[in-house]
Amino acid sequence: MLTIALPKGRIAEETLDKFEKAFGEKFVFEDRKLILKKSGFCFLNVRNQDVPTYVKYGAADLGVVGLDVLEEKEYDIIKLLDLRLGRCKVAIGLRAGEELDWTKSEIKVATKHEVIARKYFEKKAMAVDIIKLYGSIELAPLVGLSDCIVDIVETGLTMKQNGLEVGPTIMESSAFLISNKNSYYAKKEQILDLREKIEEVL
Ligand code: PRP
Repeated sequence: MLTIALPKGRIAEETLDKFEKAFGEKFVFEDRKLILKKSGFCFLNVRNQDVPTYVKYGAADLGVVGLDVLEEKEYDIIKLLDLRLGRCKVAIGLRAGEELDWTKSEIKVATKHEVIARKYFEKKAMAVDIIKLYGSIELAPLVGLSDCIVDIVETGLTMKQNGLEVGPTIMESSAFLISNKNSYYAKKEQILDLREKIEEVL
């Protein structure tokens, strides 16, 4: 049995669709159920940011999660396969027409991605005050909470409709199949076989 943590929502559905194509079985979470057991798989329906936690502690052997979430956690986890789902980038957002003032002694950055943002500005030797938010990040510069944001950009519409402009890209992201290290060594054959079957249907 392989236990696989999936991030609630579209990515979970798209991943289950790949499993259906790879194994010829229908995989659907029933109503409010958080566990789906079928054909040697146990799928867990968890919050996006919680996927690496289930995998790190071995509660799940495998998981599916955006590279941005994985980078943010800095856990020692194996990346098995780029599923090429949920493609997006992490980028800086600025008030339209403005540029980052690199001469400022400290820039206020609002973000859900604290680690990624901190590393980016550290490399540029910029002093930043990272303000952690949990959503609606685009609002922060509009009401003076921050000078800029670091956030996910998919179509760019959210920034545009809120008077922001997409600035420099920090990283590209997509959903990856990931593995717990111990599980990988203990169930290597099973896991590599799964990886191959999924890769074939991508
Ligand atoms: C993400 C992100 C942006 C939006 C970007 O939010 O934080 O707000 O999507 O997409 P776009 O470039 O296509 O407009 P999400 O929907 O994940 O919700 P959240 O802010 O609650 O995390």
